[in-house]
Amino acid sequence: MPILEVKNLVKSFGKTEVLKGIDFSIEKGDVLSIIGSSGSGKTTLLRCLNFLEFAENGTIAINDKVIYDGSEKAKMSEQYIREMRLHFGLVFQSFNLFPQYNVLKNITLAPMLLKTDTPENIEKHALELLEKVGLSDKLSSYPCELSGGQQQRVAIARALALSPDILCFDEPTSALDPELTGEVLKVIKQLAEHDTTMIIVTHEMNFAREVSDKVIFMDEGVIAEQGTAKELFENPKNERTATFINTITK
Ligand SMILES: Nc1ncnc2c1ncn2[C@@H]1O[C@H](COP(=O)(O)OP(=O)(O)OP(=O)(O)O)[C@@H](O)[C@H]1O
Ligand SMILES: [Mg+2]
Repeated sequence: MPILEVKNLVKSFGKTEVLKGIDFSIEKGDVLSIIGSSGSGKTTLLRCLNFLEFAENGTIAINDKVIYDGSEKAKMSEQYIREMRLHFGLVFQSFNLFPQYNVLKNITLAPMLLKTDTPENIEKHALELLEKVGLSDKLSSYPCELSGGQQQRVAIARALALSPDILCFDEPTSALDPELTGEVLKVIKQLAEHDTTMIIVTHEMNFAREVSDKVIFMDEGVIAEQGTAKELFENPKNERTATFINTITK
């Protein structure tokens, strides 16, 4: 049974259909990478999964239970959507930490507000997560005192603090200088080794190839091809996949 199954997801902005019927699934503990050219709909897909946008058609199921049905959107309460959102964590390209809070508070804020556990346990978990991302010594620092790579690692710890079923990344390293990219990719790789279920939108082809169980190539709002990393990168069936991979890896 897949942990996540997406069926026929359709999303438009005005008259423009940006997602034209997206179908895929992912197994628990697997890493799915999404590649594709600019404007193909990758961010929109992640935003629909995190209920920052609402697909007007299609379904999203977690562990075989449909949690979202675009045709029944009107029936969903704010409270229900907030709860469903907790299945997913999202790490943005631009970190988006709260500048007025230190690192520890950035991580504990949401779990404290949602009262997911006792304050002591929430803080203990946050310290464990900081250790995981290699930033135990920075718990009292403010975002402006950290490098981009460190900020992004805090953002990863913050997303993990709510223990999502699936952690999503939208080009987690594209706002970083090349020398800071490695430290963030290393953390994501460690999470993969510890069976964290992840969906990663990335332009880092070598990384995608190394870490992914499955890769999706998006093109103009459709999944043009999906398969194992080996299938997609070494033997793409679709000509557009081949062209895209050739262009980007040159
Ligand atoms: N809020 C919005 N309103 C109107 N159009 C939008 C909105 N968000 C995205 N779009 C359009 O939807 C299409 C897909 O955008 P999206 O950001 O999902 O692409 P992407 O694959 O993430 O691209 P990139 O690689 O540049 O990040 C684009 O044509 C974009 O202009
Ligand atoms: Mg994008």
